[in-house]
Amino acid sequence: MRVPVSSNRTPPAASPEPIKLRIAGVSKTFETAAQTVEVLQGVDVDIAAGEFVVLFGPSGCGKTTLLNLIAGFQAPTTGQILLDSKPVQGPGNDRLMMFQEHALFPWLNVLDNVVYGLCWAPGYRFRRRKQHERALELLHLVHLSGFAKSPVHELSGGMKQRVALARALAPDPQVLLIDEPFAALDALVRAKLYTELQEILVRTRKTIVAVTHDPREAACLGDRVIVFSGRPGCIQAEITIGLPRPRDINDPRVAEHAARITAQLKDTNEAQNKPHA
Ligand SMILES: Nc1ncnc2c1ncn2[C@@H]1O[C@H](COP(=O)(O)OP(=O)(O)OP(=O)(O)O)[C@@H](O)[C@H]1O
Ligand SMILES: [Mg+2]
Repeated sequence: MRVPVSSNRTPPAASPEPIKLRIAGVSKTFETAAQTVEVLQGVDVDIAAGEFVVLFGPSGCGKTTLLNLIAGFQAPTTGQILLDSKPVQGPGNDRLMMFQEHALFPWLNVLDNVVYGLCWAPGYRFRRRKQHERALELLHLVHLSGFAKSPVHELSGGMKQRVALARALAPDPQVLLIDEPFAALDALVRAKLYTELQEILVRTRKTIVAVTHDPREAACLGDRVIVFSGRPGCIQAEITIGLPRPRDINDPRVAEHAARITAQLKDTNEAQNKPHA
């Protein structure tokens, strides 16, 4: 389904769940010494509790910027981001980000990296034993129980990203923000992580906003894929993926949806490259 630029709000995919996250008329412009860059323009999206939304679009269209705005690392130039109807005014434990780089601390072992995610979490501050119990529970969830005492450098890339996922999930955030964390991994490891991520999703019922460049990844993971135009990024289309979970990245139905996503991106690029009348 095509959604015109500056359309009305994009609703969640027929979800009976309440709106968790509301992105209302959000634009972002960066002013640097050298130039002014308009990155996002009039973005309106409603995301339901427990929904998995994927942001998909060309490089530089503002996907990471939108995650940063939701995380509260930056403020929108216009518009608002609301979490449970309250404006986001800065970072918080209710919204945690998983970055492209795992960002683990090399001087801490696996367990202590996950514990670090709990140091400032409500209910866990200064409660070392409780922090350890929770961290071990999360390592079990990401299938790394046997590596709690291992130094980070002994882990593979996929294992490091699982530790990063455990750390992000440890404080039990309501919203998980994921910025292409599996991009650097090989296809086999990625396929396994997609399956695990979906299992965790079903078990923990998080609201997730993820960014990817890969249409198959978008179709495999998302309940809804939002396709952005090139910069300034605005919503060009949304595609609902109604396939049952867990989905296999190699499932032909996932490939069919991926083709629909790619076609939307192609339409976007072609429209942008047309000469002005
Ligand atoms: N802090 C900043 N100051 C100035 N410009 C910025 C800043 N952050 C991002 N930009 C610019 O905003 C634009 C969008 O960047 P962003 O990282 O959001 O894109 P993206 O869609 O995530 O791209 P990619 O798919 O390549 O990761 C880019 O042109 C970038 O240079
Ligand atoms: Mg990015």
